[in-house]
Amino acid sequence: MRLFSVATSGDRASALELLPCLWQFGRDRNALNRETASGWLRKGLFHMAKSEIGAIILAAGMGTRMKSARHKVLHAIGGRAMIRHLLDSLNRLGASKQVLVVGALKEQLEEALPDAEFAIQDPPLGTGHAVLAARDALAGFAGDILILYGDVPMVRAETMSRMIAALHERDDTALVVLGFTPRDPAQYGRLVVAKNKSADGALEAIVEFREATADQRRIRLCNSGIMAVKGALLFDLLEKVDNQNAKGEYYLTDIVAIARGQGRGAVAVEASEEEVMGINSRAELAEAEAIFQAERRTEAMEAGVTLLDPATVYFSHDTVLGKDVTIGPSVFFGPGVTIHDRVMIHAFSHLEGAEVGEGASVGPFARLRPGAHIKAGAKVGNFVEIKKAVIEEGAKVNHLAYIGDARIGKGANIGAGTITCNYDGFNKHFTDIGEGAFIGSNTALVAPVTIGDGAIVGAGSVVTKDVAANALAVTRAAHTEKEGWAEKFRHRNAKDEES
Ligand code: UD1
Ligand code: MG
Repeated sequence: MRLFSVATSGDRASALELLPCLWQFGRDRNALNRETASGWLRKGLFHMAKSEIGAIILAAGMGTRMKSARHKVLHAIGGRAMIRHLLDSLNRLGASKQVLVVGALKEQLEEALPDAEFAIQDPPLGTGHAVLAARDALAGFAGDILILYGDVPMVRAETMSRMIAALHERDDTALVVLGFTPRDPAQYGRLVVAKNKSADGALEAIVEFREATADQRRIRLCNSGIMAVKGALLFDLLEKVDNQNAKGEYYLTDIVAIARGQGRGAVAVEASEEEVMGINSRAELAEAEAIFQAERRTEAMEAGVTLLDPATVYFSHDTVLGKDVTIGPSVFFGPGVTIHDRVMIHAFSHLEGAEVGEGASVGPFARLRPGAHIKAGAKVGNFVEIKKAVIEEGAKVNHLAYIGDARIGKGANIGAGTITCNYDGFNKHFTDIGEGAFIGSNTALVAPVTIGDGAIVGAGSVVTKDVAANALAVTRAAHTEKEGWAEKFRHRNAKDEES
């Protein structure tokens, strides 16, 4: 089912009306406020625009400078493949049609994105040629088309929306180009904007650096490569592009001058350098990660989280944090973590796929692996690893323990050095520890095993059988003692040494 009707002149107003919603969403877009965000989505505020939005994402480049066997756009930022950041923004925007133009390593992309639609560009003959490769996939599509790049992943939904709005501001506008003013304009294509226009002005042409005159090279407004084009015009414009230029390539950028030549309008909209940053090397990937992390830290603090040393805390794209959470130095969040209100995460903890309930305390030096669910008021202390286990309300696992494939009942106390022996080399087995049970230090719980409510297990036990509720289980060898034996032993040996 189509969510939009085909573009009409009434689009203009609706696209603009949409903006405040998108700005709001942009502020909420990290998962810290995910509930609000999904609320926006549920309410369908992104489907208010009348013109359908499609996207062509170019990802046919070789990515040589990454020096990787993995496709460039599958490298992660904030724990998520860069291409997914982009697809996610497009979904938020409500783009109903998304085509990925791929070449080398396309199998990797097909495997990583089984639901995506692909078009093949082989061989790569330039950006204009790459967009043309998506023509069949977009046959009959009459909406607006965004042209994006898999390796420019941090473009926000609200920026895309701003471009769509600009595209409909005037009926004769054929396309919108996203420009930026980098600290170093280097060899970017330059945007030639009509004089006496401000930042979002009428665009005359894009000149590639190689073809630019000395005067044009002094222009600081550069081409990010990203465009929004009216779908009914895009492929006709592209057909007129040739490869008579310094690189012998079909330049997408030529469609600006071609559209102008037909008496149509082109507009430049500006974004920050950070937002349109392209990722071509590991160093640029690290830079993008740093920008992403800095944004997440600021958002976390704005949302009521204390970060004792912000620069050392690493978030995932989907980290959910409650209010009055305190996070110590050097804490790492892998994907899939939810932290509820008033939780304390002490220094040097590593969390992934875990949920931590209200008022619970984790670390220092704790590791929560996927499936760890620490319920309200529970404590997981130093050098404790928890995997696929529920630690019920108020339970304590304070020191040096491994708890995997288990449930620790309410208020139970797990002594230092306790291990759930969950793996027999072939299968994983479950350990169930009842409410209020007390497990003495250095106990090995050989799963599958159940410790009843209120039971006590003596320190150093190796438990291989179920323990009844309120029973005491001790499996270590009985204590024996020989009075004066040690003294006699030393005496005997001293004599031997003398002789
Ligand atoms: C392009 C722009 C330039 C802009 C710059 C921003 C053109 C002609 N020039 O230049 O104005 O300032 O990007 O970074 O568009 N790609 C394909 N198939 C191809 C060629 C490219 O998929 O045949 C993809 C690449 O994977 C890459 C992107 O398009 O992601 C840009 O291509 P690139 O060759 O880097 O263009 P630039 O010369 O940098
Ligand atoms: Mg480039």
